[in-house]
Amino acid sequence: MDKIFECNEEIKKIVLQVAEVAQYLWQNGWAERNAGNISVNIDALINKNLSLENFSVFKLPKIYPELAGKYFFVTGTGKRMRDLARSPLNNALFIRLNDAGDAYHLLVSNAENNYKFRPTSELPTHLGIHQMINKAGRKEKVVIHTHANELVALTQNPALKSAEALNRIFWGMHPETMVFVPKGVGFVPYILPGTQEIAEPTINMLKQHDIVLWEKHGVFAIGEEILDTFDNIDIICKSAKIWFICKQAGFEPEGLTDFQLDELKSLVKKFNS
Ligand code: 13P
Ligand code: ZN
Repeated sequence: MDKIFECNEEIKKIVLQVAEVAQYLWQNGWAERNAGNISVNIDALINKNLSLENFSVFKLPKIYPELAGKYFFVTGTGKRMRDLARSPLNNALFIRLNDAGDAYHLLVSNAENNYKFRPTSELPTHLGIHQMINKAGRKEKVVIHTHANELVALTQNPALKSAEALNRIFWGMHPETMVFVPKGVGFVPYILPGTQEIAEPTINMLKQHDIVLWEKHGVFAIGEEILDTFDNIDIICKSAKIWFICKQAGFEPEGLTDFQLDELKSLVKKFNS
């Protein structure tokens, strides 16, 4: 078992919460095969006296100056959420970006290494998001990507390929959505996954929203806490489900009125002030 994990109760808590959320992603049917990935910035929880000389280093295609020397817990590429739930340390990794921010150390020593895998293929998006968060001095630490069925289905509708149309559905189907997701979602039109090209618009969208939908693919969400970040995805899925239930029952859902939405917005403002 990894020494970093063993010596720190706070990190152990993070690892167990990632495992808990992985179980929810699987139970919801959002995590076919290796679908989805999670990263958590654990830098504040790490003992910085760790000697790095035994750890392998892997070059990154881009420099992340704001993340230089920072530590993350990241799910492994090709790993299943259902396996992560049972056995998080065999399906996710600790990494540390090097001092230049252009490579990462895998924080398992070669001698002990039973981690025959690398971080998620969506690492460019995860690191880009953490970099944007750090640069802006924001508090989010968690990034979750999943293939939520209802959200992917919505983006298959040409009439719904905009943040405006999607948010009208999310906010209109249930009052809780405006309360917990007041910034609404951003929308990224289809781009090849795992690339820098999809990372850029996703990062830009997350400057204004906490959730971004990827057309015909899934969702990225950020938050301060692992479970809350999952909850926000779950909340917009609830709205999407209600919309589909109404459609399947053969009627057009009415949605909350502009007045009702404004009323909720004022409530959220009051709550946050
Ligand atoms: P990884 O297995 O590389 O994390 O990829 C899963 C995924 O959802 C890609 O978008
Ligand atoms: Zn994906």
